Amino acid sequence: MKKNEWIPVRKSHLKYYENIELFYKSPSGNIVLYKPVGMPFTDESIANKPFIGDLYIKPEDKSATLEATQKGFNEQLIKDIQNKTLNEVRDSLFNVVDETLAQPRAGGLKAMTGTVQSIVEGFSSQKGIIKNLVRISYNDYTTALHSINVMALTVGYCYFTGKSTKVTEEYALAALLHDVGKTEVPKNILTASRPLTDEEYNQIKAHSSLGADILDGYKEEPIRKAKVGALEHHEKLDGSGYPHGKTDITECGRILSIVDCYEAITNDDRPYRSAMQPLKALALLKEDMEKGKFDRSIFTDFAYSLTDFK
Ligand SMILES: [Fe+2]
Ligand SMILES: [Fe+2]
Repeated sequence: MKKNEWIPVRKSHLKYYENIELFYKSPSGNIVLYKPVGMPFTDESIANKPFIGDLYIKPEDKSATLEATQKGFNEQLIKDIQNKTLNEVRDSLFNVVDETLAQPRAGGLKAMTGTVQSIVEGFSSQKGIIKNLVRISYNDYTTALHSINVMALTVGYCYFTGKSTKVTEEYALAALLHDVGKTEVPKNILTASRPLTDEEYNQIKAHSSLGADILDGYKEEPIRKAKVGALEHHEKLDGSGYPHGKTDITECGRILSIVDCYEAITNDDRPYRSAMQPLKALALLKEDMEKGKFDRSIFTDFAYSLTDFK
């Protein structure tokens, strides 16, 4: 095997890799086994066997590694929600979503079902924690962060309108994965700090269909159901949306179109466009609702759900 095929792993994830072989580079440049399968990785193991540089995994262990990380994160998330520690919830969630969205075609989205279940379950007992997730502000506004915020707002809306746990989990998962297609749009276009050309805008618009295509690649039912969110969240009831200009939009699509716009305009601060205050953003969305782009009753309930902090 060529040296460049070995994959370095993040140090913060090592504790999840009990059942993964880890390797390191010896001073002479050879790849040597650091830890066999079945041996936990603890601070003591580093003290007993110091290493310089990165630890590596074999390429064929890549998806097993992602699964181990997700499992560890999901367990951590449940503990953090129970312990009401907002910063930890935020960090666990951001890590797991960021890691998973980085390679959605590798099968990793499966674990998102468990993530969403923890959040929805946590919401009923620790409402404040989940609601406050939307106030997270990171320096770097990424798709992972936006997706988490859209999910948290969607859970808040579903809770406010009395949706069942099953429907809430379904819509929350669709919310978390609605922009997964953006992982296949060039990053320089996504983060451009200037208005886009028509061609660039078309590349961005392709994320709806790309997302649906990624989700279509899964055989798991909850992930396949989330496809509707990816496909419809930029559709508008008056037919002015994309990718199909549909007017017959599912409830999930109608909710996400509102929540997605609201989240983006209140949080996405760019050099040519500042993030807006909630009331101003709602006023702007209301104008679009009056023009027939958004569902009136969903919009009204969503606006009220934002004030429903307990
Ligand atoms: Fe989108
Ligand atoms: Fe979005």
